[in-house]
Amino acid sequence: MHIVKVSLGDRSYDIEIGSVLGEAGARLRNLELGKKIALVTNPTIKKLYGQMLVDSLKEAGFAVMSIDIPDGEQYKNLDWANAIYTALLINGFDRKSALIAFGGGVIGDLTGFAAATFMRGVPFIQVPTTLLAMVDSSVGGKTGVNHPMGKNMIGSFYQPKKVLMDQNMLKSLPKEELLSGMAEVIKYGVIWDRSLFEYLGNNRDRILSLDPDAVTHVIRRSCEIKADIVSKDEREGGLRAILNYGHTIGHAIETAENYTIRHGYAVAIGMVYAAHLARNTGLCDASVPDRVESLIAAYGLPTNLADLSRKPAAAELMSTIQIDKKAEGGKVKFILPKNIGEVVITKEWDEQQLQELIV
Ligand SMILES: NC(=O)c1ccc[n+]([C@@H]2O[C@H](COP(=O)([O-])OP(=O)(O)OC[C@H]3O[C@@H](n4cnc5c(N)ncnc54)[C@H](O)[C@@H]3O)[C@@H](O)[C@H]2O)c1
Repeated sequence: MHIVKVSLGDRSYDIEIGSVLGEAGARLRNLELGKKIALVTNPTIKKLYGQMLVDSLKEAGFAVMSIDIPDGEQYKNLDWANAIYTALLINGFDRKSALIAFGGGVIGDLTGFAAATFMRGVPFIQVPTTLLAMVDSSVGGKTGVNHPMGKNMIGSFYQPKKVLMDQNMLKSLPKEELLSGMAEVIKYGVIWDRSLFEYLGNNRDRILSLDPDAVTHVIRRSCEIKADIVSKDEREGGLRAILNYGHTIGHAIETAENYTIRHGYAVAIGMVYAAHLARNTGLCDASVPDRVESLIAAYGLPTNLADLSRKPAAAELMSTIQIDKKAEGGKVKFILPKNIGEVVITKEWDEQQLQELIV
């Protein structure tokens, strides 16, 4: 078992990584939670692992209520947050009763948002079940729901009391979901840690076949990096923005594809184009985009807009980037690599150069 600490003063918490699902109840005992726990999940995850978690919580003396959300991004909205509030109220939950998010990023974001807002905040525990949720969305405290006019438009920063990650659950994860999470892991290598980047190159087969040591290493190192960045800049005043490497173009791709593309796939393409932009901007030499592109391709992730079933027009992508620009009150900040393991946050990029790359 490995523990990664997220240091945020009185909001600090531990991420516990290992075969922890069957011990979850015992691992939550020291948090001084009330007796009642609401387990928010979806039918896919409940069927696979629900019983194991419920048994462990009951053994530890908790009274468990399950709240089931249908499976899908389209249910990450205010209506389903409201359904959670209603279930909590009907069942007499109070300010000490905790919520457990048991699922991927969709369940994590929705449950975290409900926990942040129910009675102005109740304790919340993340038990992520996808690789993306383990290495990214369950760590760092961003919670929220979608609005018909935009993704993640309603939300808050709200830290969990603990995160429990059991890598054994990844065995049932569809391959595309695993790869989507791997894109975010590759991101950490590019923005922060050259040795992680090299490890990913040297251990691809072990990672993709879910060798326990290799997968644990990847999850632990990703969590350490995200914890380090978030501890330095919880609310994205500066440094935390580097986590958005690949996300500016990635977001434009997701919008063009009407969110039918997996987040990690869009980010993978976005990272390759941002690396080429860095090179054309004179920030790095050609070896950097070459290495980023090769590693992403080695994992079977897309690297090129032409890999999409419908290649979005450059104007379409540029127009989303322009909208983001307005939201940022000026010019969009790009995260561009100077080297493997080092990026800069910059507004000094050339629109013409970007347009030529994505055409
Ligand atoms: N809060 C953040 O910082 C942050 C960061 C990145 C992404 N996100 C959000 O995360 C969401 C995407 O998360 P995701 O990629 O985990 O998708 P997801 O939650 O939709 O899960 C993907 C699919 O895998 C299934 N699944 C989950 N665990 C499984 C398992 N162990 N075995 C078999 N199937 C399993 C789910 O039921 C679902 O069908 C988006 O809403 C995105 O906005 C949030």
